[in-house]
Amino acid sequence: MNRQKILVTGGAGYIGSHACVELLQENYDVVVIDNLSNSKSDSLARVEKIAGKSLTFVQADIRDKQALSNIFTAHDIYAVMHFAGLKAVGESCEQPIRYYQNNVCGTLTLTEVMEQFGVKKIIFSSSATVYGEPDTVKYTEDLPVFGATNPYGKSKAMVEDILKDLAQADVLSNASKPWEIVLLRYFNPIGAHISGLIGEDPNGIPNNLVPYVSQVAVGKLEQLSVFGGDYPTIDGTGVRDYIHVVDLVKGHLCALNSLGKGSGCKAYNLGAGKGYSVLEIIAAFERITEKTIQYKIVARRTGDVAENYADPGLALRELGWKTEKQLDEMVADTWRWQSQNPSGYE
Ligand code: NAD
Ligand code: WQD
Repeated sequence: MNRQKILVTGGAGYIGSHACVELLQENYDVVVIDNLSNSKSDSLARVEKIAGKSLTFVQADIRDKQALSNIFTAHDIYAVMHFAGLKAVGESCEQPIRYYQNNVCGTLTLTEVMEQFGVKKIIFSSSATVYGEPDTVKYTEDLPVFGATNPYGKSKAMVEDILKDLAQADVLSNASKPWEIVLLRYFNPIGAHISGLIGEDPNGIPNNLVPYVSQVAVGKLEQLSVFGGDYPTIDGTGVRDYIHVVDLVKGHLCALNSLGKGSGCKAYNLGAGKGYSVLEIIAAFERITEKTIQYKIVARRTGDVAENYADPGLALRELGWKTEKQLDEMVADTWRWQSQNPSGYE
């Protein structure tokens, strides 16, 4: 029986809450630190309901050294899953200091305290956005981490650099207990737990496609603006690699299993390896919800690329992970969450 204790930063959020369910179901003990800046603690109550087990929740900021020290003093943490961060691309352009402060300084404080307590295993939520705008649509991990188009994306690239440096320092000093770091570069996570109890609950008008479409389907928003109809793609609209959030968090469990055997810092793409266009997403919603999605095609959104999808081969070869859920299941699960909780956790 597995009783390793995992610290989940940002565990009350969209992806973190799904990770907590999976960890509890796999018999890990879970401690969550979250400042609730973009979430509600209700998500954690629902996590406990789904898993039939309890977790420990500490409401605090990862930049609060004392709060972190208290956690590492009170709990024998095996590894950290680090989800805590701000993630809105547009907002990051308006408030770069807040984004760098939160995402970069937050990770620095976290890793500093981890090192103090000799906990040197971390799985970090990175993003495909760190690849910037490469000359290819199929992204492999050996592409340069370069040219992210906004402070959010740059903060992810900076944190990747910091974590690589931590691992490298231990190689140079031949540390007896070196850092073990996994950078997971997510493509486009969507969907929700099959129970419909937890899911994505964006503040205000959603920035991302799937939350927007599902709010149109549920009648909260009137019409989707499709950003660009003249891209060189299958139907002129943007193509992305959508991945079910439960598949995504299973990738974290595989990464966790890969720890304890070595050292260093490794990056993996977490994606399905297949892209869908905006119009294909709309069609899937219409099929599953049996509702008409009103939309109009408008100008391209600044900073968007035409198409991208993951090469997820490395994660399969080295972590034994691949996605299992298809588009219709992603949409059906999104819809169950949205229709059962039209106002999110409120
Ligand atoms: P989310 O906003 O739902 O969850 C993030 C959680 O972190 C929230 O509960 C928030 O309150 C908390 N948080 C933020 N700053 C904090 C701080 N300083 N101290 C403590 N808690 C803090 O976002 P999500 O979609 O679950 O994303 C999780 C992680 O995955 C983020 O790091 C995000 O950048 C990354 N990511 C997300 C996507 C995506 O499309 N959702 C894609 C790629 C990467
Ligand atoms: C998907 C497609 C849009 C909204 C973003 C971040 C990325 C990562 C995931 C965190 C694109 C189109 C969208 C709308 C639309 N997040 N679209 N109308 O841009 O691939 O990635 O989220 O790490 O860093 O950049 O996702 O869901 O915003 O867009 O037509 O109202 O839908 O143009 O083609 P994106 P998205």
